[in-house]
Amino acid sequence: MKLSASVLAAPITGLERILPELNPSLVDYIHIDVMDGNFVPQISFGESITKEISHLTKIPLDVHLMVNTPEKEVPKYFSLRPEFITFHIETTDFSVRLAEQIRSQEIKVGVSLNPATPLSSIQYLLDYVDLVLIMTVDPGFYGQSFVKGGFKKIAEAKEMIGTRNILLEVDGGVGLNNIHKLNELGVDICVAGSAIFKNGEPNQNAKNLKKAMEVSFQVT
Ligand code: DX5
Ligand code: ZN
Repeated sequence: MKLSASVLAAPITGLERILPELNPSLVDYIHIDVMDGNFVPQISFGESITKEISHLTKIPLDVHLMVNTPEKEVPKYFSLRPEFITFHIETTDFSVRLAEQIRSQEIKVGVSLNPATPLSSIQYLLDYVDLVLIMTVDPGFYGQSFVKGGFKKIAEAKEMIGTRNILLEVDGGVGLNNIHKLNELGVDICVAGSAIFKNGEPNQNAKNLKKAMEVSFQVT
């Protein structure tokens, strides 16, 4: 299982120092939470900060768009060559066309859904995406608790994906206490914000999370 570090939980003024120090053998992706203050309550950052971030690290970018009308936003990220661009199913009526637009740029496309959004809403899209991102908190903030029912939904998503070549990613409330279970459920990528950037020791925290994936007890 791979780790995607959510820089939303990092001190923004420290990114210039923190990002180049992240160890690519511990942190597999840099997760960029783009928030518009409309689909979610907060505004975070957009394509210009994402571009700055891309200059500070060689770790591939995992762009998570929490914005309404993603059709307007998506093209702004093409030139940054992220590994993934993920949009929310709740934000568009044109998900097939949007997925095809992202894929036409040879960028992997992800679709995400909020905890209360049923898996059936993305069933039709499975022929068009490379990644399914299951939110295990309501999006908008880092440091929230993993939702009740999260494991069940992940298991159902895994079953729904079946043998398709689609990655399963989980975002929200991931930590030492649940990462082993997520690995057991067959999750491919875990996003971690506060669990990586707390205490100013991101590499050590990422190392502990990777260890905890393998064993069912907490690593200190
Ligand atoms: C929530 C964001 C997450 C968040 C994760 O809206 O999409 O990526 O930063 O933070 P933690 O791991 O602290 O829940
Ligand atoms: Zn996210």
